[in-house]
Amino acid sequence: MGKLGPSWLRDAVFYEIYPSSFYDSNGDGIGDIPGIIAKLDYLTALGVNAVWLNPCFVSPFCDGGYDIADYRQVAPRFGTNDDLFRLFAEAKKRNIKICLDMVPGHTSTEHPWFKASCQPEENPYSNYYIWNNSWLAPTDGLRMISGSTNRNGSFMINYFAMQPALNYGFANPNPEYPWQLPTDHPDVLKVREELKNNMRFWLEKGCDGFRVDMAPSLVKKDPGKKATMALWREVREMFDREYPECALIAEWAYPPQSLKAGFHCDFLLHCGTPGYTTLFRNEPERDLFNVSGLNKNTQYEDDGNDYTVTNRHSFFDAAGLGDAKAFFDIYMRHYELTRNDGYISIPSGDHDMPRISDFRDKKDLACVFAFLMTMPGVPFVYYGDEIGMRNIPNLISKEGGFTRTQARTPMQWDAGNNAGFSAAPAEKLFLPVDRASDAPNVSDQMSRADSLWHEVQKLIDLRKSTPALHADSELILLQADYPLVYLRRNGNDYILTVIQPARRKWECNITLPVAAQSLESLKNCNISAEVCGTLLHLSGDDTQYGIWKVIR
Ligand code: NOJ
Repeated sequence: MGKLGPSWLRDAVFYEIYPSSFYDSNGDGIGDIPGIIAKLDYLTALGVNAVWLNPCFVSPFCDGGYDIADYRQVAPRFGTNDDLFRLFAEAKKRNIKICLDMVPGHTSTEHPWFKASCQPEENPYSNYYIWNNSWLAPTDGLRMISGSTNRNGSFMINYFAMQPALNYGFANPNPEYPWQLPTDHPDVLKVREELKNNMRFWLEKGCDGFRVDMAPSLVKKDPGKKATMALWREVREMFDREYPECALIAEWAYPPQSLKAGFHCDFLLHCGTPGYTTLFRNEPERDLFNVSGLNKNTQYEDDGNDYTVTNRHSFFDAAGLGDAKAFFDIYMRHYELTRNDGYISIPSGDHDMPRISDFRDKKDLACVFAFLMTMPGVPFVYYGDEIGMRNIPNLISKEGGFTRTQARTPMQWDAGNNAGFSAAPAEKLFLPVDRASDAPNVSDQMSRADSLWHEVQKLIDLRKSTPALHADSELILLQADYPLVYLRRNGNDYILTVIQPARRKWECNITLPVAAQSLESLKNCNISAEVCGTLLHLSGDDTQYGIWKVIR
């Protein structure tokens, strides 16, 4: 275990499971933990070796479980703590790591800490949340809720109205408002200990780490996130000391802060990373997280660079109108700054963004996965993306999902009843399954050698078996354009990747940084690649990609 953390991260390919939608083992219409255990062999077949499980704890589910009412108890709809322990054990037998979702910034208003904190009488939980000191007191620009409790004050929220912010203190408390406690206030330090102890609780039971929700949001009024970073460094020290084989993965979307703060990985996000959205999706970058501390405007302005993305076309669209440079300008800067500290994780999608399959066919999606599996860092596959599951638009919001609901529908296992997700009557399902006659499903795609599933499976296998494609091997970008061309390097081994999402005839010359004798095809979808010393000539006539070993 070096600075980069547990060695298993090097060849890890994560799979994100939204537990309500994965597999329903007891016919109540909602996915559950025994259902995940039943599908572990599926994960092995696909080749993924780590899971990020969205929150599965007791919750009123007003924000898909990101409103936790008990950090240490599995929500009854998903099973019991024993089921989760069994998942850890069964996954371990198959060499699959299980990371849970830790939501440190806020709880549900139904959490017993918050209920105690609402009491007018002072008690040990009074300062666990951020309260001002009078029912109509000034809020100092913070998002506060008034009038919903008997306590003479308003409480700050972190996201939705029923997600009160836990109190990790203020980096620069406003002297006019003594209720803004400093980060070393004893009550605030208690909350920090609660966070660490909640992590310890699950790590002791065999969990392999956490994806940390809204990790930069903890300390308030913290420009440059210095105090928040110090807090996470303390947590990392705990991991290094007590759980060196466990992973800390940030939802931060700003690697120069998160990875320096001790996280092993940080995600690029739809709503946090300029350039990431337009790489994969046509939607404008929305400021969903502006409220939450994942504020791209402040984070990205801090380093003095202009990251305005003007081209809204996705690079991976067959139309070929996108701009990979907008992505790589930021990516390469952050990669160089952080490659000795941790990993930048590029997800295929997640439960907060539209699925990647919109407007794409199998060939387009294969290019996306070729990119994900050949880039540095630790890749994440969102459940169902491996078969090209689609967004189901216009669904009524479920459990605080709003437009995100479209990407949270049940996994499509087969062509049978409820797509094989559940034995419940269709009207009892957590969300409807994709009922289109050509809706993709696992069983069909596993039975066809030319399916997207097999393409993804082979790419995952290639990544895991090729050290130069592992998370920590060097990236040498050769061309951020159509086609995208880069090398990965591990010692003297070089792997060349060429990805052409645009559906057109194309050719180009590239200068390699090292002379090559020949190229050995590892996965070549009909691209012609001729090499003569350092000169590489590429041509093709369609959306396609190729991966070669450079023979020197
Ligand atoms: C980010 C999570 O991914 C999202 O689903 C949730 O709504 C917010 N954080 C609030 O916890």
